[in-house]
Amino acid sequence: MKVLVNDQLIERDEAKIDIEDRGYQFGDGVYEVVRMYNGKFFTYEEHIDRLYASAAKIDLVIPYSKPELRAILDSLVTANNVGTGNVYLQVTRGIQSPRNHVIPETPLKAVLTASTSEVPRDMTLFEDGRKAIVEEDVRWLRCDIKSLNLLGNSMAKNKAHQAGALEAILHRDGSVTEGSATNAYMIKDGTLFTHAADNLVLAGITRQVILRVARENGIPVDESGFTLTDLATADEVFISSTTIEVTPIIAIDDKPVGDGKRGPITKQLHTYFTAEILKQCGELAFV
Ligand code: PDD
Repeated sequence: MKVLVNDQLIERDEAKIDIEDRGYQFGDGVYEVVRMYNGKFFTYEEHIDRLYASAAKIDLVIPYSKPELRAILDSLVTANNVGTGNVYLQVTRGIQSPRNHVIPETPLKAVLTASTSEVPRDMTLFEDGRKAIVEEDVRWLRCDIKSLNLLGNSMAKNKAHQAGALEAILHRDGSVTEGSATNAYMIKDGTLFTHAADNLVLAGITRQVILRVARENGIPVDESGFTLTDLATADEVFISSTTIEVTPIIAIDDKPVGDGKRGPITKQLHTYFTAEILKQCGELAFV
């Protein structure tokens, strides 16, 4: 298995990271997870645009042009022969020795690393759904940046895992923001509700596709968010991300959502979403 360190393809166990890399010491960097189906990238441009946008928000200069980055990533996925899987890439601000919170005025050499994993589509996820818990959102106020600082996300997700759930649905003062690694939605009386793409959530690429196909197919969309009280009486709830597509939430804190099964609008949205994958990546083994 090859990994990428800057523009070099090397064996996974030969990769070395400097102990004073600011990504390692401060979580000072940005990342993306891009899905591939049938050896083809899905929504590649959107992910890469968001990577550069996240970097710009923290004044981190990515030392590659978008075409250069594409060529490097293409060489990685070709070397690893990725079929249906995930490409993880991150860019840290670089190595600063000695450690100092202050960011040097002269830009450091940013460090790009990337790896791949083969991950088939899990149809049980989409059809059967999973449980969630509700947790307070204790993260910072710039969740629009896809930064490497994921401790708040990771601790919430781990709490869900310990409770036998897939995801923690987060809230600030009773207002639902997103999942620990997903966007969160509810359906009430036929309308799809989700949080606005502001500083409190990540503007998910999957979210972007879902909202577009919902509107194209006449499902009303409301981006003004929803509360925990709304969530408790929702007809349907689902979460979305690059890796889990449109996954129904069938119980929250062990109380069933609706009748405890995937709802009809969630199912419809996943069908529309799958059609988008087919358009970009061709026939799928499981539809
Ligand atoms: N997570 N919100 C958060 C906090 C996320 O970490 C993610 C993605 C999303 C969904 O974004 P997208 O649809 O662009 O994947 C929303 C990735 C998959 C991860 O950290 O593994």
